[in-house]
Amino acid sequence: MTLGELCRQDRDRQLAWLEDYLRIPSISSSPEHAEEVRRCGRFSVSEMERIGLEHGQLLETGGHPVAYADWLHAPNAPTVLVYGHYDVQPVDPLDLWDSPPFDPRIRDRDLYARGAVDDKGQVLMHWAAIEALLKLHGRLPLNLKLLIEGEEEIGSPHLDAFIQERLDLLRADVAVISDTAMYGHGIPSLCYGLRGLTYLQIDVHGPNSDLHSGSFGGAVANPCNALAALLSRLKDDAGRILIPGFYDDVRPLSAAERTELAKLPFDEVAYRTAIGVDELVGEPDCTPLERLWARPTLDVNGIWGGFQGAGAKTIIPAEAHAKVSCRLVPDQDPERIARLVEDYVRAITPAGVRVEVRQLHGGRPSITPIDHPATLAAKRALERAFEKEVVFMREGGSIPVVATFDSLLHVPTVLLGVGLPDEHAHAPNERLNLDNFYRGILAVAYLWQELASSPIA
Ligand code: BES
Ligand code: ZN
Repeated sequence: MTLGELCRQDRDRQLAWLEDYLRIPSISSSPEHAEEVRRCGRFSVSEMERIGLEHGQLLETGGHPVAYADWLHAPNAPTVLVYGHYDVQPVDPLDLWDSPPFDPRIRDRDLYARGAVDDKGQVLMHWAAIEALLKLHGRLPLNLKLLIEGEEEIGSPHLDAFIQERLDLLRADVAVISDTAMYGHGIPSLCYGLRGLTYLQIDVHGPNSDLHSGSFGGAVANPCNALAALLSRLKDDAGRILIPGFYDDVRPLSAAERTELAKLPFDEVAYRTAIGVDELVGEPDCTPLERLWARPTLDVNGIWGGFQGAGAKTIIPAEAHAKVSCRLVPDQDPERIARLVEDYVRAITPAGVRVEVRQLHGGRPSITPIDHPATLAAKRALERAFEKEVVFMREGGSIPVVATFDSLLHVPTVLLGVGLPDEHAHAPNERLNLDNFYRGILAVAYLWQELASSPIA
């Protein structure tokens, strides 16, 4: 039997397996779900042991645990570190889901559930590929270490220290992550660049209590007004970020890379229509893909303060708040950017209020060389599984561990993702296309075979 035949025959079971994984509500940001997150970690370990991986263990991090297992019986072959995450995003607004987020349902060729594409479906692709290879050959063509974490969606607060403390356990020749999307349906893709992130909260404090706006308005600074004034000065009307030094370390795109990116089909009207906006914005001398993938951003993610109820209430609120994030590109440093934002916010804070700026989390941007033998192996594997030519792309999203693998383990990371850009990751009705799931399993299995004979060790 071939690998393809075996996998085809196992499809119903692979699907039921994924549904079991998706039923565990492993929302890492929610303290009420901490036990479910841990249960999902335990499930990850026991499934990895069941398929024939060894040394399965739930490793403590100080936060949600890491699920680890390995197979190390190919002494002359390379070692690959596979990373994924078993935690998921919150599900609100719940009423916008067409079926319950933790009750997986199939409609057309899609499986709907929170975590379907981000990232449980893509983690399970790896398990299914390993299971199939072990069934078929009784062994794997190379050594594998799997690290499935439970805190990716909250910025992996404990992961860097965890890796630093276990360099020997995690040592590998290359890392592989399936947690990104393809450029479009039917276009197998290799992602070679991710943006980084610095995420901040700004708190503006005014009087020690809400005040009657009639008695006090006019002589007392209003924190909501102050916050609005402050936020409005972070960018100019053309969208350029006004924080001094912000662009200092931005690596310009090379002419060659711009030419390559320009070859990717981009239908601006379809893009706008799909997300329901009339116009795209951003730096005029960059194409939309360049703005999304290779230029930094500054966005307000949420803003609150003062009276939010029905009708009118006349107050000067005591405080106002905003969550602000910057997506970063090579070679920007999240800590430096956080400092620059804080210094600037302090410098422009209006009189009469006090401001606090806190960094909630950060992650570094990354680039994987597209001519690395591991990337070329992944290209061959994807092309074989998807029967189409691969395109090279970047992503605007962040997977901070890629930069950590580079700096602590000195390994490049191959991003072999099979999501689609419209699969509603982080939103209601998250889904995963099942054809991509099944082809993804094959692609991963082919990748181990290709890497086994690549000059990467
Ligand atoms: N799977 C995503 C990363 C991603 C996003 C890949 C968009 C491709 C396109 C990952 O789970 C994620 O959401 N990461 C966070 C990281 C943050 C919490 C540090 C992100 O990008 O917001
Ligand atoms: Zn993810």
